[in-house]
Amino acid sequence: MKRIKVAIIGYGNRGMIYGSFIKEKIKQFQVVAVVEFLKEKLEKAKKDFNLKDNQLYQDADAFFNDKLKVDLLIVASMDKYHYLQTINALNQNMNVLLEKPIALTLNECNTINERAKQKKKFVVVCHVLRYSSFYTTIKDLIDKGRVGDVIHISQAENVAYWHQAHSYVRGNWRKKEETGPMILAKCSHDLDIIYWLLNRPCLRLSSFGNLNHFIKKNQPKGASNRCFDCIKKEECPYNCYAFYLNEGREWARQLVGDDLSDENITKYLKESPYGRCVYDCDNNVVDHQVVNMEFEGHVTASLTMEAFSRYCYRTIHVYGTHGDIIGDFEKRTITINNYIKGQEVIDLNQMNNDFSGHGGGDRVMFFEFVDLIINHHKSKGLTLIEDSVMSHRMAFAAEKSRLNNGEVVELN
Ligand SMILES: NC(=O)c1ccc[n+]([C@@H]2O[C@H](COP(=O)([O-])OP(=O)(O)OC[C@H]3O[C@@H](n4cnc5c(N)ncnc54)[C@H](O)[C@@H]3O)[C@@H](O)[C@H]2O)c1
Repeated sequence: MKRIKVAIIGYGNRGMIYGSFIKEKIKQFQVVAVVEFLKEKLEKAKKDFNLKDNQLYQDADAFFNDKLKVDLLIVASMDKYHYLQTINALNQNMNVLLEKPIALTLNECNTINERAKQKKKFVVVCHVLRYSSFYTTIKDLIDKGRVGDVIHISQAENVAYWHQAHSYVRGNWRKKEETGPMILAKCSHDLDIIYWLLNRPCLRLSSFGNLNHFIKKNQPKGASNRCFDCIKKEECPYNCYAFYLNEGREWARQLVGDDLSDENITKYLKESPYGRCVYDCDNNVVDHQVVNMEFEGHVTASLTMEAFSRYCYRTIHVYGTHGDIIGDFEKRTITINNYIKGQEVIDLNQMNNDFSGHGGGDRVMFFEFVDLIINHHKSKGLTLIEDSVMSHRMAFAAEKSRLNNGEVVELN
C-alpha cells in the first residue's frame, strides 16, 4: 500500500491529536517533517515518529525552502500563520488539513480557496463538529424531513467562565489582532454547523456584543494584578490557583506539561500570563455576542455566544413545521418532538461511539481526508474549503455588524 507522506506544522494540542491518529495507523503514513517553534515539542515529535534531526524544523520557511515531497500537510500552527503556510503548501502541490480559522481576513480565505482550485489540491478545514455523531444525527433527522421544513435554528455556544479566562482573557486567543475576532476564533464552528444544517446560503445578518466584564474598571478594590498575592482571591471565581489546582488540572497540562504536581503548577502560575488578574490583562475580544441571520427562503437562525456559564457546552434547537429537535452536545441527547407522533429521545451515550475529540469529530474528519488522498474516495460528509468559506464570511460580517451598532450586513 502507498504510504502518505505527511508533515505537521505546530506540534501543540491540535498537532498532537492528529499525530496520535498517525501513530495509531503508522503503516499508512511516512512522517517526513515536523515544524514547531518549541524545542521540547520537537523532541517529543522526534520520539513519536522516530525522526532524524534533519526532519525537525523550528522555522516554517526553512521547511518550505527544502521543497520536500509532501502529500498531506497538517497546519496546526497559531491562527495568524495559517494563510502563508497554506499558500506555500499549495504552491508546492501539497494537500492541506487546515486548522480553523482559515485565515484572519476574508480576502485571504478567498485566496486560499482560489489557489486550491488552481492547483487542484484539497484543503480541508477542521470544522470537526460536522463529523460528530451528535450533529450528523441532527443533520440526518432534518434531511429525512422528521420535523417538516426547518424555519429557524437557535444555537448556543456556552464558553464557560473558566474557559473564557483561560483562552480569551489570559491566553492565546485574547487579542483579535493575533487570532481574529472571537466570533471567528470560537464560533466559525457554530456558523458552519448552522449553514450546513440549513443547506442554503446566508443572505444577511446582524450582530451585537461587547467586552463587558474582563476590564480594568471591574477589578475589585485592593486586588493585585496577579492572583498569587491577591487579597481578594478567595472571593474571586477567576482565581487561577482555585481552577488549575482543582477542576482545571488537565488544562494546566497545556501550560506546564506532564508534571501536574501542586508545586509545579503553583510555581508556573506565579510568573506566567495565566496567573494574571482577569481584570488587568491585555485582552480585547468580546465576552458575549449574538448573531441573527437570514438564509435563503426567509429561514432564520440565531447564535448566542457568551462566557458566563458554569460549563462549556453547546445546545441547539431546530424549529420545524412538523416538529422540533432539541440537542445538548454535552449530555449527548437529542430530543425530537414530532407534533403528531410525539416524543423520541436519542441518547448517544447508549451507542458504541467514540466521543473523545469534539464528539468523535476529530478522528472521523482526519481519516475521511486520508481516505480521499489515498483512495480518491470522497465520503459524503467530507467538506472541502469551498464550503467552509461561508462560515468565515458570516463571521467577518458579524464582526462588521457588531462594530457598527448591529447594522445589517448583506452577504451576497
Ligand atoms: N478545530 C478545533 O476545534 C480547534 C480547537 C482548538 C484549536 N484550534 C486551532 O488549532 C490551532 C492550534 O491550536 P492549539 O490549541 O493546538 O494551540 P497550541 O498552542 O497547543 O499549539 C500550537 C503549536 O504550534 C506552534 N507554532 C505556532 N505557530 C508556529 C509556527 N509558525 N511555526 C512553528 N510552530 C508554530 C506553537 O509553538 C505550539 O506548540 C489554532 O489555529 C487554533 O485556533 C482548533
